[in-house]
Amino acid sequence: MQNLTLNTGSQLPALGLGTWKSKPGEVYQAILQAIQIGYRHFDCAAIYGNESEIGQAFQEAFQKGWVTRQELWITSKLWCNAHHAENVQTALQKTLNDLSLDYLDLYLIHWPVVLQPTSMFAAKASDLIPLKEVPTIETWQALESCVQAGLSKNIGVSNFSVNKLSELLAQTSTTPAMNQIELHPLLQQKEMLDYCKTVGVQLTAYSPLGSKDRAAALRSANEPSLLENTTILDIASTHNCTAAQVLIKWALQRGTAVIPKSVNPKRLKENFEAQELTLSSQAMQEISTLDKHFRFVNGAFWAVEGSDYTVAKLWDE
Ligand code: A2P
Repeated sequence: MQNLTLNTGSQLPALGLGTWKSKPGEVYQAILQAIQIGYRHFDCAAIYGNESEIGQAFQEAFQKGWVTRQELWITSKLWCNAHHAENVQTALQKTLNDLSLDYLDLYLIHWPVVLQPTSMFAAKASDLIPLKEVPTIETWQALESCVQAGLSKNIGVSNFSVNKLSELLAQTSTTPAMNQIELHPLLQQKEMLDYCKTVGVQLTAYSPLGSKDRAAALRSANEPSLLENTTILDIASTHNCTAAQVLIKWALQRGTAVIPKSVNPKRLKENFEAQELTLSSQAMQEISTLDKHFRFVNGAFWAVEGSDYTVAKLWDE
């Protein structure tokens, strides 16, 4: 399995299993199947509402002797309602309890957005707190303390623009090890790739298959389909593989980590086997022409009228 070296020296298995949208009733089996197939990197988050089932599956796999804790890479994310410094460690401890672990490999700030500690989502403007009132550096320093306390080996961010990353970098000597963002052929983010390379931040690609299973409220009408894109399908046919495998291998060949989600045994295996492919330079070139800067997860759910958040400010574009 291909590894990425983080700026801390840690080795991250580049292909991981996404667990966003994996329902509590199905994620337990999916994790066990994934471990048997060979997955060693699992991407979790408190807000996905399934960490305790995932933790039970890890425990089962450890007890059965399939894998040791040290052989797994487990990432989780701090939800937006725990950005105040005094709430960070409590939130991480809750995630560790749910996952039945005593440390994470990577803990990320899930969004550059602050919610009131009592709010889970932004239903109204008063659920949100302007970012300048709880600046990212405050949350970041609390994450640094979590590393010192041995609760996470690495820390990073998610959904950060180049601007927000560079602002954070200017204020800290601890460069985030990771920025987890949406990346796929319709959203290639070349500028972000180049910037992260210069400053030593690795990238993880989320929604690499287009996250078709998002709730209806998070989907827009007539959005494009990655898995049915004719260029991707043509490349799949010339490489004797599936469209999903092309999308996964494209992310790996660009040097990013990638976390396709599946709870289906056949697709878990198919996605894992994408690692064995090699996409031709012509295929990589053809895919590079597909960029539309199209976001499946556009963050509009944060842009509540009357709040300080807009989609343009979120992505700085
Ligand atoms: P399922 O969990 O039933 O396999 P993303 O990783 O971009 O969020 O996409 C996840 C969606 O893609 C889910 O609906 C998942 O369904 C589906 N999916 C995962 N792997 C494949 C695959 N190999 N072929 C087609 N669809 C897939």
